[in-house]
Amino acid sequence: MSTKTSTESTSNYWARYENSIFDEMRRDGITNLRGHARGPGSTASFGGGAGIGVGKGPLLNIDPFDSRWESWDESGFVWYWNRLINRVARHFPQFGILASRIALAREVASDFQNAIFQSQFGLLEQLVPEWMLDAAIEPDTGSPVQFSARGKNWSGPWLKELAQVASMERCGLLSDGQVILEIGGGIGLKALLITQLYPSTTVIFVDIPPALAVAEAYLSIARTGGVCGYRQTKETESVYLGSGDRIFMVAPWQVDKIPSMSVDGAINTGSFQEMEEEQVQFYGGLIKRTVKDFVWHANLISGHDQAMRKGDHGVLAPVSSVFIEQTLAPEFSLRDSRMAFTLTGKSNDSVEQAYDRL
Ligand SMILES: C[S@@+](CC[C@H](N)C(=O)[O-])C[C@H]1O[C@@H](n2cnc3c(N)ncnc32)[C@H](O)[C@@H]1O
Repeated sequence: MSTKTSTESTSNYWARYENSIFDEMRRDGITNLRGHARGPGSTASFGGGAGIGVGKGPLLNIDPFDSRWESWDESGFVWYWNRLINRVARHFPQFGILASRIALAREVASDFQNAIFQSQFGLLEQLVPEWMLDAAIEPDTGSPVQFSARGKNWSGPWLKELAQVASMERCGLLSDGQVILEIGGGIGLKALLITQLYPSTTVIFVDIPPALAVAEAYLSIARTGGVCGYRQTKETESVYLGSGDRIFMVAPWQVDKIPSMSVDGAINTGSFQEMEEEQVQFYGGLIKRTVKDFVWHANLISGHDQAMRKGDHGVLAPVSSVFIEQTLAPEFSLRDSRMAFTLTGKSNDSVEQAYDRL
């Protein structure tokens, strides 16, 4: 029996999400994967959910604004209950608190979200080049919660991807025809966007299962072809970059199949921060062996919440941006560092950094 090394297995932080992703895939497949505002503790957390910022904490699976509850609002029971409460409240207004107001609350929340989206979009239009706004098309695979602007539909997570890719573009890192290594790509939105904007670019996509399997399922539907799955990677001796495929799904134990010095740049958003130090060092080694030009990452400056003990949610030793810098040195040197752009108005404690190979 083979034993998984620590780099092949899930970090303490991510362990909590694994089962809920599995459960969701088992229940719904890909159909509504991106539709749940908070998902079952999973989809928002790996970059694919509605990302509207309601609820807090990885274990909160019940979102009162989730569209799954709509049929309950419309049920006869709620109708009769509210009628009863209304009657009583005519005489004793304080009883009005007992009415089920969730349908109303959902309406208010949806107006509110739409207003937030429109102002985010206005901001994004200042930052993202016109050609990118024209070329980016978010598929409705997985039923994302989307809003309308410029005659197209866009979700919050998709806007985040656009903002990050525009930031890399401003640093002069991207051009068509490159090979990009994405580590911890989540559901695959950034890989999808990059290959839309730069059609001859290839993305080598590394993530742990089950996220890798979810991303492969998502990308295979969201794109028309060009995705080389991890089972195919298993069959090959090396990731065959000349094959015409645009996205290669690679599990952490398959990274040796990526040819040395075959990659132009590595990217990592919100994922080193979920790993333990030795896992980041493992990817640091991979980057040094395969990447010719640049690294771009966006992660928390001081790392993620620390778990008090193994098994608790959090990382055992938070990976800070300084740790990432030390891991990439001396081959890569920091060229540009700025506070990460945030669309959500959440407190901004992440940094975006571009490194050049010396
Ligand atoms: C917060 S999500 C970020 C997803 C995406 N990059 C984004 O910006 O939305 C963190 C991702 O890191 C991945 N991850 C965690 N530990 C990993 C490891 N040891 N190796 C590869 N990926 C890992 C998770 O599976 C998840 O997809």
